[in-house]
Amino acid sequence: MQKLLIKGKRELIGKISISGSKNASLPILAASILADEVKLKNVPLVKDIFTMITLLKFIGLEINISKKKNSLIIQNKNKNIKTIAPYKLVKTMRAGVLVLGSLLTKYKKAKVSLPGGCAIGTRPVDLHLFALKKLGAKIKIKGGYIIAEAKRGLRGTVINFPSISVGATENALLAAFKAKGQTTLKNCAIEPEILDLISFLNKLGGKIKISGRKILINSSEMIKKKISHKVIFDRIEFGTYLIAGVLIGKKITIDKIETKFVKNEINILNRIGANIDVKKNSITIGKNKKLKRLDITTKPYPGFPTDLQAQFMVLMTQVNGKSQIKENIFENRFMHVPELRRMGAKIEIKNKTAFIEGPTKLNGAEVMATDLRASVSLVLAGLIAENRTIINRIYHLDRGYEFLERKLKKCKANIKRV
Ligand code: EPZ
Repeated sequence: MQKLLIKGKRELIGKISISGSKNASLPILAASILADEVKLKNVPLVKDIFTMITLLKFIGLEINISKKKNSLIIQNKNKNIKTIAPYKLVKTMRAGVLVLGSLLTKYKKAKVSLPGGCAIGTRPVDLHLFALKKLGAKIKIKGGYIIAEAKRGLRGTVINFPSISVGATENALLAAFKAKGQTTLKNCAIEPEILDLISFLNKLGGKIKISGRKILINSSEMIKKKISHKVIFDRIEFGTYLIAGVLIGKKITIDKIETKFVKNEINILNRIGANIDVKKNSITIGKNKKLKRLDITTKPYPGFPTDLQAQFMVLMTQVNGKSQIKENIFENRFMHVPELRRMGAKIEIKNKTAFIEGPTKLNGAEVMATDLRASVSLVLAGLIAENRTIINRIYHLDRGYEFLERKLKKCKANIKRV
């Protein structure tokens, strides 16, 4: 099994270009089922994207990958489509459940495996099914599969989500795309990745408008045959390298971003006194000395993202004073804490809140990655720790970080995969 070896305390200097967003590419790939031909640019070629490609190929789509250009051409010209997402694919990547909305819209039926539990929480899909039922789909659960049908097509309606879910909003958008009449989605997730999906669907001929947490969808009869779309930047990858820069950067520039989507993260760094220079499409981080303590609560966008909680926790081990993080989205997303403690971090957990003492010297150790963001927090800890850190189970990292070692090595980090 592959491991990462990091020799810490090497100052970072150079430029990091951010890849396209994994969490925008996945629903857009699911939405490509609706089109005849899609050219997708700026797709990060990470494990989760390959899993989604395998799923779409299983369904019957043809996909050509240009690794050099990070682009994909997806064609749906097959008459013998399988409207199925099998267990073996959905269990390895929950976003597989997003094909449900597209399959129902285009083929009026779908059989999609229930994703099951996940390391960071139970993560049910009841809100996805709630929305699809409201749109008129008949849904049964049988043998671990969601069996959905809408023989006469779906019908527009008002859907008021009882709580905010990224995936349920995406599935509802895909299902409502051609639903008869008008659909209003209320209390929606409005992450930049959802805005990107809406922009993709509108290019495809959709009539979708967003205002606050409300999304209005008018039935779209005309679907464009061929479209091209460039996926937005990965704001979580950006936030991860931003923290690396603040922790141990001499001078790091991060580009290929849009800072308007990451105002929250930038405001926090300004508040704690980080040395950052913000431009429209890039940010430069200089050397930092004393940083102030901070408190964070994870919330749906535009609140602070749960996907950056573990990385900010590493930053909190280096600021002055006791900081706090309240995790409000997932019930089991502190699995990096025992590993960070093994490296010397002083962190206590009470219910949903972690209390982090800083500044604390970290010491390299052999640690274990447990999920994507927990893993990358261990990379950040390794970069600032004394001596050598060995990170096991790095297949989690490969699910979502494109060229992680290459990007860090280019900035003089001592990191290698063995
Ligand atoms: C998306 O997951 C992201 N994944 C996650 O990123 C991210 O952590 C999460 O949104 C929150 O921002 C993708 O975009 C592929 P949710 P999703 O539905 O859609 C509960 C990463 O590291 N819920 O917004 O699954 C759920 O259990 C990953 O890249 C229900 O109760 O998240 C959670 O507590 C991990 N019923 C909360 O809502 C439902 O039907 C938010 O989940 C759906 C969700």
